Amino acid sequence: MKNYVSASVLSADMLELKNEIKKLEQSNIDMLHFDVMDGIFVDNITFGLPVLRQVRAATDMTLDVHLMITDPLKYIDNFADFGADIISFHIESESDTMSVIKAIKAKRIKASIAIRPATPAESVYEFLPFVDMILVMTVEPGFGGQSFIPETLDKVRAVRERIRELGLEVDVEVDGGINSDTAAAVRAAGANVLVSGSFLFGAQDMAAASESLRKDISC
Ligand code: DX5
Ligand code: ZN
Repeated sequence: MKNYVSASVLSADMLELKNEIKKLEQSNIDMLHFDVMDGIFVDNITFGLPVLRQVRAATDMTLDVHLMITDPLKYIDNFADFGADIISFHIESESDTMSVIKAIKAKRIKASIAIRPATPAESVYEFLPFVDMILVMTVEPGFGGQSFIPETLDKVRAVRERIRELGLEVDVEVDGGINSDTAAAVRAAGANVLVSGSFLFGAQDMAAASESLRKDISC
C-alpha cells in the first residue's frame, strides 16, 4: 500500500500562498489539503470556492478538499467544478450520505467520508464499497495545531480491518496532530494518507519532514 502526505494549507501564509504551493511541489508533497469550514458545522470559518479556483490555476497537485460544512450536498458540484480531485464530507453533516457520495462520483472525482473523533468506525462500514477514502479525524475538526487524540487509533485500525475483510482498495486518511512523533502509530494502525499542517509548515526542511511522515510500510 502506498503512503501519501497531504499538506493542509490552513497552516500556510495566506498572503504568500503561491510561494507556499511552490514549496509543497518542491518538497515532494503528494496532495494539497484544503479545509473548508462554514462556522456552523465547526466553530471556525476558513476559505472556499474563489480561493480553490485560484489554487487550481496555480498547481497540478492533487487537491484534497475537506468540507466541514453543514450541507455538503448543496456544494459538491461547485467544489468539483472549481478543481477538487477528492472531496471528503462529514457523515455527521445534514446531507444524506449516499446522495453526497453519488453527487461526488457523478463528477468523476474521488469520494471520501470524514468522521469526527466521537463517531464510531461502524458508521462508515455500509458505505465502504462506494467510496475511495475514509478520513478519520484525529482531532476535533475546526482548528490546526491541536494535539493528536490517541483514542482515535483504534478507529483507524477498525476501519482498515473492515476494508481488508471486504477486499476493497480504500485509502484511510488521518487528519489532526500528525507529526514525526505520531505518524508511525497511525501508519501502523492502517492509515496511508497523512494530513499535516502545522508540522509541515513549521519545519525547517519541509521535504525531510514530509519523508518522515510518508515512510512506506508493507501491509
Ligand atoms: C482541522 C483540519 C486539519 C488541520 C490539521 O479541522 O481539518 O486539516 O489543518 O492541522 P494540524 O496538522 O496542524 O493538526
Ligand atoms: Zn482537514
